[in-house]
Amino acid sequence: MTDQAYSLRKRAWESNRHSHYISVSSGKGGVGKTNFTVNMACQLASMGKKVLVFDADLGLANVDIMLSLSVTATVKKYLEGRAGIDDILKKDVYGFDVFPASSGFMELAVLSDAEYEKIFNIFMLLDGKYDYIIFDTGAGIADSVVRFASIADTVIIVTQPEPTAITDAYAFMKVVRQAYNIKKMKVVFNRVDDAANSDNVYKSLKGVAAKFLGVELELLGHLRDDKLVRKAIRAQKPVSVMEPRAPFSKDVQDCVKRLVGVPVEKRASNVYDLFKGVFR
Ligand SMILES: Nc1ncnc2c1ncn2[C@@H]1O[C@H](COP(=O)(O)OP(=O)(O)OP(=O)(O)O)[C@@H](O)[C@H]1O
Ligand SMILES: [Mg+2]
Repeated sequence: MTDQAYSLRKRAWESNRHSHYISVSSGKGGVGKTNFTVNMACQLASMGKKVLVFDADLGLANVDIMLSLSVTATVKKYLEGRAGIDDILKKDVYGFDVFPASSGFMELAVLSDAEYEKIFNIFMLLDGKYDYIIFDTGAGIADSVVRFASIADTVIIVTQPEPTAITDAYAFMKVVRQAYNIKKMKVVFNRVDDAANSDNVYKSLKGVAAKFLGVELELLGHLRDDKLVRKAIRAQKPVSVMEPRAPFSKDVQDCVKRLVGVPVEKRASNVYDLFKGVFR
């Protein structure tokens, strides 16, 4: 494609996109982004939405591992011009599609502008084929992460309610706000064992984000710490598929309802959940 044709297509895509783009990021690593992403994709697919999960953790990919996909071609081959989009796309994985990335390639951590353009071209070509295109990014504030957030319609930050993760979530918001002037973000609290405490942490974070960054931070939900998550990850299946009634699966379902604007019914009291945990 000529430079001019690319620029025209990019401009058209930026001004009139048909898919909704979501980035799932975090300041701190290992807080549960990939697990949340694949389960969010499952829940969206079960609502009849067409979904693509794009593994945007380009050099430390995990989506394929979590879903036990056998992958021969990845974004790396695509960037090298050795595979086309259709060779790489994994179709109908639990009702959604996956664009896998590679693991253990340092060069994928720092891409050139031309390589980013090549990646964004994937979205321009696939735009409209999906209702949602979800980027599962790496952790932190590297350019490779923040660029994906910058092109998303919805930026979701996953954090845990602990001070270290919150500090890093704040740093992430600061960078995204300063580099790309994004003023609205959503937050998900993961591995929550005390919903009231997590809600207080959210209120504080929302307050400082508004006061010091001018960021409007909306709560998407709290995800309980759930041993069924670890069981599902060991089995390399989404917990929403393996254990649809698990507390985590229900919490993701609530997040997804909020995301698409469906009313969320109030859950039974925490005492019920407490006992369920004991007898599981
Ligand atoms: N709600 C939960 N309950 C119990 N364990 C969880 C929960 N969420 C995540 N975990 C655990 O945390 C681990 C890390 O999750 P995940 O790989 O999704 O994190 P990540 O943020 O994508 O990590 P990275 O920053 O390396 O990409 C999982 O393998 C799982 O064991
Ligand atoms: Mg991950």
